[in-house]
Amino acid sequence: MKTTKTVLITGSSSGYGLETARHFLAQGWNVIATMRTPRADLFPASSHLRVLALDVTRPDSITRALETAGPIDVLVNNAGLGLFGAFEATPMSTVRDIFETNTFGVMAMCQSVIPQFRERGAGTIVNVTSSATLAPFPLVAAYTASKTAIDGFTASLALELREFDVRVKLVEPGYGPTTNFTANGQQRMQGLIPAAYEPFACRVFAGFTPEKPVTRESDVAEAVLRAASDVSDQLHFPAGADALALA
Ligand SMILES: NC(=O)c1ccc[n+]([C@@H]2O[C@H](COP(=O)([O-])OP(=O)(O)OC[C@H]3O[C@@H](n4cnc5c(N)ncnc54)[C@H](OP(=O)(O)O)[C@@H]3O)[C@@H](O)[C@H]2O)c1
Repeated sequence: MKTTKTVLITGSSSGYGLETARHFLAQGWNVIATMRTPRADLFPASSHLRVLALDVTRPDSITRALETAGPIDVLVNNAGLGLFGAFEATPMSTVRDIFETNTFGVMAMCQSVIPQFRERGAGTIVNVTSSATLAPFPLVAAYTASKTAIDGFTASLALELREFDVRVKLVEPGYGPTTNFTANGQQRMQGLIPAAYEPFACRVFAGFTPEKPVTRESDVAEAVLRAASDVSDQLHFPAGADALALA
């Protein structure tokens, strides 16, 4: 008998995470959509859906969410913060904030689910990083560092957990102009382009022309589902036309 699998997704309130949760739901999965402030109204009513509070930077929040969730088959670490700015102008406190969510938050989530996956000899972790790890872009040095750390972490973890039939995958989305990524980072990015960098930053922005390929939410949702269902040793799942071109 085929049993319905359960996926827990972080950062499901908007953008790639929201679309991923909706896509898994439409494909018949049990979905635990997590977000800092729960909003069930974002989804169609379904007995397959639970919406839970989860802040990946808070150990108590992680523990509570995973206890409430019960056993899961797949963890999708999607929650992330963006940061665009000149590195010299970026306060180290901001760099640390980015790492708390994008890097340590992902590691903490992995550490919390690995015991149940290892004991069961099954389970998949999908870490959503960025095409910024496939080729360097300017003015995103701290963000790229936070995501590249997870690329290396995931590659090593995948080898260590293969021993227990637990899979670990990377989804690398390209630039998605339609998510809340830039809006959610507006306040954090204030003052991060000093006058000396303005001409360069303008040239970089001018490069984002409408005809350039970008990533849609559905590209990421489909790549995450492919990664979650993959039983081979494939590690990298670039998502979106721009990311595929770089890969
Ligand atoms: N859009 C792009 O251009 C792009 C490109 C490459 C990779 N990515 C990556 O794709 C992922 C999703 O980004 P997106 O574009 O969909 O942006 P988004 O619309 O801003 O979504 C980010 C999500 O992360 C959540 N989040 C932030 N901090 C959190 C925390 N401490 N705990 C739990 N959730 C938290 C946000 O929830 P709240 O509602 O609580 O703020 C939101 O649901 C991120 O990992 C991002 O780095 C994005």
